Amino acid sequence: MKIMERSLTVALLLLLAAGTVFVSCGKGQGAQDGGGKGLIGVVMPTRSEERWIKDGNAVKEGLEQLGYTVDLQYSDDDIATQTRQIDDMITKGVKILVIASIDGSALSSQLENAAAAKIPVISYDRLLMQSPNVDYYVSFDNYKVGGQMGDILITGLKLDEATAENPVIIELFAGSPDDNNSVGFYDGAMDKLKPYFDKGVLKVPSGQIDRTVIGTLRWDAAEAQKRMENLLSAYYSGDVVLNGILSPYDPISLSCLEACKAVGYGSTPGKPLPVVGGQDCIVASVKSILAGEQYATVLKDTRSLGAATVTLVDTLMQGQTPGNLDTTSYNNGAKIVPSLLLDSVIVTKDNVQKDVIDTGYHTAAELGL
Ligand code: BGC
Repeated sequence: MKIMERSLTVALLLLLAAGTVFVSCGKGQGAQDGGGKGLIGVVMPTRSEERWIKDGNAVKEGLEQLGYTVDLQYSDDDIATQTRQIDDMITKGVKILVIASIDGSALSSQLENAAAAKIPVISYDRLLMQSPNVDYYVSFDNYKVGGQMGDILITGLKLDEATAENPVIIELFAGSPDDNNSVGFYDGAMDKLKPYFDKGVLKVPSGQIDRTVIGTLRWDAAEAQKRMENLLSAYYSGDVVLNGILSPYDPISLSCLEACKAVGYGSTPGKPLPVVGGQDCIVASVKSILAGEQYATVLKDTRSLGAATVTLVDTLMQGQTPGNLDTTSYNNGAKIVPSLLLDSVIVTKDNVQKDVIDTGYHTAAELGL
């Protein structure tokens, strides 16, 4: 309930703080808004991941309830498709663009065209990089999300009780290098884990620690699984046992667990499944958590992000300036982008009921309960 309340508060604050006139929105040629309050373009990176479908639905339904017409497109994780979709939306005369990018730095010329057509751009969840033509950023506090990924390992692996004589052994995975969120997730997690590395109670046998080495292009779980298999065969052939995995994304967590199971983890005495966190609270991971396999995940409630975005769009469409934004945290390389950053929640077996089922994020039936 807390997340929903918070998002409503954020939405209300945005409306209340709305003050001066900001934009004369979207001057595209003959907006095809179907006679509603205006056509809004929404682009999501891919339909093949559960979270983006929820995001797309939340934004579309919220805007439609307010009387807007929505052009919602999914880009199949293909940059050329995404640029074409945005070009088309500008031509159609959308009033505002909401963009969750694939490669945050690949859309500069589309953003320039949007600015020329006076179409405000909201960077959705992932920050659009290296462009001055980004007006707002709506996301979660990605550094804090990373911190929660670190906390999951600290708790799950009981790192506070670990000793240098008997160190805890982990391997690290990071998100897509072209997604700025990956930086926040990695930095947040590593800042939490650093004291344990410094004390020598936490070790990475492969030595693969740098974000550029442990990244997973396009968040591809199959690629991560291959890397996990290679790590297991290269560094864990003797009696070294992997105790934990830093994972920034539920499908990567599940693939890594598969790779571990394939070499006897979870079925051999002395080789329990490693402690693995994750992100997005997807159905398969919550099921795995309930089954005692994946240890935890980070829930970023897409309904809250959708609601905050809808309120922001509506505020701008009313010619008002949104208030209460963070104007220090997110520099995209060309400017500091005013941001609205929501909170996330760690989910373990203990709070699935309270934070996932009771809030309606997933129903008991979806979780097979
Ligand atoms: C999002 C995550 C998501 C990942 C893969 C990131 O930008 O913040 O929630 O798991 O992309 O889609």
